[in-house]
Amino acid sequence: MEKKDIENLLDSDVQKAISEIHVFSEIDSTNAEAARLIRDGRKGIQLVIADSQSAGKGRRGRNWVSPPASGLYLSLAYPFGLEADSLQGLSLITALSVHSCGKDLGAENLQLKWPNDILVGNRKLSGILLELHNDDDQIWVVFGIGVNYNLSNEEKESIDRPVIDIREILPDMPSREDLAARIVDKLISNIAIFTEVGFSFFHAAWNRYDRYQDSDIVVQNAGNRTIGRCQGVDESGALLLLTAAGVKKISGGEIFPSVRAADEFVR
Ligand code: BTN
Repeated sequence: MEKKDIENLLDSDVQKAISEIHVFSEIDSTNAEAARLIRDGRKGIQLVIADSQSAGKGRRGRNWVSPPASGLYLSLAYPFGLEADSLQGLSLITALSVHSCGKDLGAENLQLKWPNDILVGNRKLSGILLELHNDDDQIWVVFGIGVNYNLSNEEKESIDRPVIDIREILPDMPSREDLAARIVDKLISNIAIFTEVGFSFFHAAWNRYDRYQDSDIVVQNAGNRTIGRCQGVDESGALLLLTAAGVKKISGGEIFPSVRAADEFVR
């Protein structure tokens, strides 16, 4: 990918808002590179994009399979004057940004899995990893976004869960540069709305596309498992789970579809 191509595809206000764009044919991880840029004292929003990653990072210490040109791998380092507890909402609006670009391009049946996966059925299209960093006077959030773009069958099989890519869902494939620019435009505009009015602006949109709305799920967090019926998210982005003990607000963890109906727990 060429830096100029991405730059030219960005909305003109977003071009102005981003301080620097860094493009690599290979890097360990765009999130790791974004962290190095912050540590090196770069100022203003930094966009890092790579054709491949040798040590792509997933959530919960997993790796993110990142072969050349098979996926979109990008990170946006964004300086905030916010509290760290905004991270949850930011995580959800990142997924909503990718979801909305997919929809604009004509993808159907895209759904969201709390806190930030994009699925088609049970197959994962995109994963998001947000990381926090501090410098002397501000908090930085690194928004790491991976989108499966054009994976070979072998690459799909090497991933330990069902995946789907852009090639399968969009017959008129956008270039990776176009996809990257659309996602960055949308994310920057959603961050501005979030900063102004908070997650409540996005809450209904999330619940409309929540894959597990009204389904029985298990939420696992640091060894704890909570079973219940998913009620979507509240106005802060916390997951609402109807359990035997009433509605619980959950702010961290991973969802698994329940193997056993949760009826007995929620009655
Ligand atoms: C997940 O679903 O586990 C999150 C995956 C996040 C992958 C992206 S690819 C670009 C950025 N750089 C990384 O090392 N990880 C994120």
